[in-house]
Amino acid sequence: MDLALLRRLTTGEGWGLLQSLPPYDEESALALQQRLRGAGFDPDLVAAALNQARLRARAVEKFGEFARGMVFTSDGLEQATRLPVAARHADRFRAADVHTVHDLGCGIGADAMAMAGLDLRVRAVDADEVTAGVAAVNLRHWPESTADHGRVEEFRPPAGQGGRGVGAWLDPARRTPGVADVTGRTRRIFDLASISPSWQTVLSLAQELPATGAKLSPAFPHGALPPGAEAQWTSFDGDVVECTVWFGPLARHRGRSAAVLRPGAPPVQVTEEDADGSTPALTSLSLLGAWLYEPDRAVLRAGLTSALTAVTGGAELDAGVGYVGSSRSVDVPYARRYAVVEAMPFNVKALRGWLRDHGVDRLTIKKRGVSVDADLLRRQLRLPAKGSTEAVVVVTRVRSNQVVLIVRPT
Ligand SMILES: C[S@@+](CC[C@H](N)C(=O)[O-])C[C@H]1O[C@@H](n2cnc3c(N)ncnc32)[C@H](O)[C@@H]1O
Repeated sequence: MDLALLRRLTTGEGWGLLQSLPPYDEESALALQQRLRGAGFDPDLVAAALNQARLRARAVEKFGEFARGMVFTSDGLEQATRLPVAARHADRFRAADVHTVHDLGCGIGADAMAMAGLDLRVRAVDADEVTAGVAAVNLRHWPESTADHGRVEEFRPPAGQGGRGVGAWLDPARRTPGVADVTGRTRRIFDLASISPSWQTVLSLAQELPATGAKLSPAFPHGALPPGAEAQWTSFDGDVVECTVWFGPLARHRGRSAAVLRPGAPPVQVTEEDADGSTPALTSLSLLGAWLYEPDRAVLRAGLTSALTAVTGGAELDAGVGYVGSSRSVDVPYARRYAVVEAMPFNVKALRGWLRDHGVDRLTIKKRGVSVDADLLRRQLRLPAKGSTEAVVVVTRVRSNQVVLIVRPT
């Protein structure tokens, strides 16, 4: 879609057409396309409107009902921050008394919309002209906020205010346009040196405008965090979606933190203050304890397993695996708890025997810190077709030795 077509689609007849379309249905899309062309609509406009309807249907997962009033590009939707996470970004600026946020590389404007929705004035730019145009359409409900075509590198912080009340938000592109991976999706870049705008640009901006935030890949290296800033890893429904670095007044904690978000549940935050710095490791499988804890992935990525060992009085099964064994049963809002039913050194024959003796016919295999192929293991275990019991098997390490635990979720 070029800019001219975007304009036609989002004004007058084009907008009327788009808003009149029924919920997108792949099977009837062709017939609908032909009907609309037959009714005299321009074929390019019909194709663009149907494409938007398709993207809106996909976007419901990130934006709920708001998707119906938004426009998208395919790449822009894929890279956009989901609404509940964007709302948390916006809240950081509001809580720090920021009134104007420069969203530098705004994409389709998901973060910008959340900020404008909290009465912040947004000045957004994007290097891609159509994407900036899409963001402008999405920001139309907030006339105080704007989105324009422009590059981060051309941005000059407003002079004379000492940056007070003014903030910057960057969500650098983390994909290589046009490089498709085996799934056909554009390949992700995890290298801090390859993001656009660059990490150096983020750091320079944070010097000029202290209230700066930057959303980065969950693979953000701990060692790259500048002193005094906060890096927060966020998970949404179990998936780690980002690591955001907050500078100046936007940092609520120094160092690393994790935010665990689940639909319908209050957010949970874990910080370095919850961790005592050292993570005891289990010295022997026999000392595992009756309970196994599995921290949320954001906590793992943030390197805060020691918060879990501290609160459970337990020990990590082996350095870096994240599983914690303890004799205490504690409700931890950022970890799953399992009752340990059996623990043994990893041995396929012994495990097969145990599962058979206990009539197990359905298995969930979890593994961490080992190179075991779960599909192969499942085949090797040759579960009986007719059993009566389901089991969760965890394959991991204790003191570098592979072990298997049979556990029951609680
Ligand atoms: C990850 S997307 C932003 C997504 C956005 N936060 C949202 O939630 O919708 C990154 C955007 O940065 C833009 N971009 C990359 N380099 C840029 C630069 N140097 N100047 C301006 N925009 C840039 C890309 O065109 C892309 O749209």
